[in-house]
Amino acid sequence: MKHFRDPWLVIGARGMLGTDLMVTLNQADIDAVGLDVDDLDITQDGLVQRVMDRYRPGLVINVAAFTDVDACETRQEEVFRVNARGPENLARACRFTDSFLLHMSTDYVFDGRLGRQCHEDDPMRPLGTYGKSKAIGEQLVRANLPDSHCILRTQWLFGLHGKNFVEAILALAETRDHLKVVNDQHGRPTYSLDLAKAILEICERGFVGVLHVANDGEATWHDFARKILELSKIDHVRVESQTTEELARPAPRPAYSVLNISRFVELVGSPLRHWEEALAAYLDSRPRKGHGFKR
Ligand SMILES: NC(=O)c1ccc[n+]([C@@H]2O[C@H](COP(=O)([O-])OP(=O)(O)OC[C@H]3O[C@@H](n4cnc5c(N)ncnc54)[C@H](OP(=O)(O)O)[C@@H]3O)[C@@H](O)[C@H]2O)c1
Repeated sequence: MKHFRDPWLVIGARGMLGTDLMVTLNQADIDAVGLDVDDLDITQDGLVQRVMDRYRPGLVINVAAFTDVDACETRQEEVFRVNARGPENLARACRFTDSFLLHMSTDYVFDGRLGRQCHEDDPMRPLGTYGKSKAIGEQLVRANLPDSHCILRTQWLFGLHGKNFVEAILALAETRDHLKVVNDQHGRPTYSLDLAKAILEICERGFVGVLHVANDGEATWHDFARKILELSKIDHVRVESQTTEELARPAPRPAYSVLNISRFVELVGSPLRHWEEALAAYLDSRPRKGHGFKR
């Protein structure tokens, strides 16, 4: 087992994954300090250095990002500052404080055109601004901290502390009797609490390099929507298929970016549970009333 010195620093600690990560680390009795944009804006180089110097963390976990994929297309400068320059600032500061950096990334660094699952070493070919900014963020982390980083790619997150697809479908089901949902994009829906626990395991093993982590199984958004309604016992809503082209969102998205998780399975011994089981657990634990949207 790898032991990083105290404290661990979680950046983006009030986001969807960050909140679950702080709960998970606290439960494991890890001395973790959670910071978010109000405490530490990662685009501010000098501030990053000062904060890192104050804490001198053994491990930094960066889950901060600009994550609104469609908004990325119109706010490009800001997106690259947060998703590329931010991790670069953290990686450079980590060099001076001798800290390890675990940095979160995404399946959107791939174009989804390989016709098979995406492996860690496949070339990155992002389609939209979000994916491009995350791909550059990865490269800057690798370049600045070659031996002391872990880049974790995940996909299709849902969790209790953020805006997500599950809540969007449940909200629509309150006012609609039919929905159209995209059926030509494939991924692995992933519960942020399961991912948070996996992150802790990966840190304990001291993995260096790129790793894909997501719940087991795969789905289209259409499959995912149907399962959300089925498990919620909502039977008055018909779910029709739609193509990506028909939906015409501002940002392009990969068609088949299912992450290959065999490297993770080899590392920890088993995959995360199937996404359907994770979804059932999520639905059981969410508040009965309201949708708990962060924004
Ligand atoms: N959500 C997904 O489906 C998904 C899929 C694949 C990968 N990921 C990756 O997983 C990670 C966590 O995603 P998430 O869904 O938990 O994101 P999230 O809920 O949007 O949380 C990100 C957090 O980062 C904060 N932040 C934004 N700009 C910052 C800055 N300049 N300095 C410091 N903090 C800043 C945000 O604050 P504000 O809310 O105030 O902006 C927010 O609290 C990200 O790296 C994301 O790219 C997410």
